[in-house]
Amino acid sequence: MAQRATFPSNFVWGAATASYQIEGGHTDGGKGQSIWDKFSHTPGKIANGDTGDVACDHYHRYADDVALMSRMGLRSYRFSIAWPRIFPEGKGKFNRAGIEFYQRLVDRLLEHRILPFATLYHWDLPQALQEKGGWANRDVAHYFRDYAAAVYEALGDRVHHWITHNEPWVTAVLGYTTGVHAPGLADPRQGVAAAHNLLLSHGEAVLAMRDISAKGLHVGITLNLSPAYPASDSDQDVAAARKADAYQNRWFLDPVFKGRYPEDLLEMFGDLGTGIVADDLPVISVPIDFLGVNYYSRQIVRHDPAAPNGIGRVREPSSEYTAMDWEVYPDGLYTLLTRLERDYGPELYITENGAAYEDILTPDNKVHDDRRIAYLRGHLNACHRAIRDGAKLRGYFVWSLLDNFEWAFGYTRRFGVAYVDYQDQRRILKDSARWYRETISENGPELEEQA
Ligand code: FCB
Repeated sequence: MAQRATFPSNFVWGAATASYQIEGGHTDGGKGQSIWDKFSHTPGKIANGDTGDVACDHYHRYADDVALMSRMGLRSYRFSIAWPRIFPEGKGKFNRAGIEFYQRLVDRLLEHRILPFATLYHWDLPQALQEKGGWANRDVAHYFRDYAAAVYEALGDRVHHWITHNEPWVTAVLGYTTGVHAPGLADPRQGVAAAHNLLLSHGEAVLAMRDISAKGLHVGITLNLSPAYPASDSDQDVAAARKADAYQNRWFLDPVFKGRYPEDLLEMFGDLGTGIVADDLPVISVPIDFLGVNYYSRQIVRHDPAAPNGIGRVREPSSEYTAMDWEVYPDGLYTLLTRLERDYGPELYITENGAAYEDILTPDNKVHDDRRIAYLRGHLNACHRAIRDGAKLRGYFVWSLLDNFEWAFGYTRRFGVAYVDYQDQRRILKDSARWYRETISENGPELEEQA
């Protein structure tokens, strides 16, 4: 029998999803339009012209999905709340039917003893607020605070673990700077302002929630973090990797945990940084209970004078890559977690980690996704080593429970541990789901030799 990497006894084992990626029901129950409804219906934005109109139809199938989670032995479930279900216009009129959907979902979870982790914003901004400038408009931070307070009032008696934002870096950069995500703008100045207003909205929401009731409340923020490795030990490559770290990681970590923006980042922004208001930093850095970490890969950086800020990327030819073309690099997660402990020190949850592969459903309804199992096992071993070396890691959520709408890639990328047949909405447990069930029940995966 293989030896196991045993985790702390109260370790939280879960799976994650997001509203727009799984719910469908895009006009049901009085829901308003979100920026992703609009964007996905704009020709040319999404692979195959896919939309989230139906997605995994989770809005109608949530009870079966909770039963599936229970069969998988999940102890926790991270989901997000669609703001336009609660405030169809973003603010003003509160939509009771919207919140009732999440109350029913949470009640089901609790019946199955599955601990809910709720994310308030996983990218589906009400379109009505985009028409006011979206996150580039500072007022939206205040509307987010009001939305957070209303949701917490309605669910706070049964949900104790809250995440304000999922990956605000992605919201700001892909949404406002490069435009590959909704709302599809390509304006770096708005990107920097959006990032700042997202941070402000995080702090304001935390303060509002604590004001309503601090009892039992665990609130944090989820960041997409990726350690930057220099391609060589030349001074230029090392300096480029340091810049990449400022842009990818410290942009959000430092304001939240240190109450300041990194100097080197402000230098890079130069006069693009006009949307940054230093007076907001005390609110942005209000104490939180944990940091959520989404980790998929590392970055290898070299100095490239032709690239923006001289940050060039390198591919490691000897590595394995997933269907997203992301390098499989579990050791980067160890490096990241121990660095977070050293430089910032918060309690941590891995709120997303997982991989897309070209899964094949066999005629006897099996998906033999050995590569996904290897990916998960490698990353959980990295978590185990990081805990041993002092990281305060409290839980792990695999991305994702189900195959789903992968943003600009539509349905062409499968991240689920359960396979979804989009023709008939059948869910089929992949081998990785069975492996994960066993890992949970044994409280840890097979131990790997340290690389
Ligand atoms: C993250 C997102 C999540 C999913 C994974 C693959 O950036 O938070 O919704 O798309 O990537």
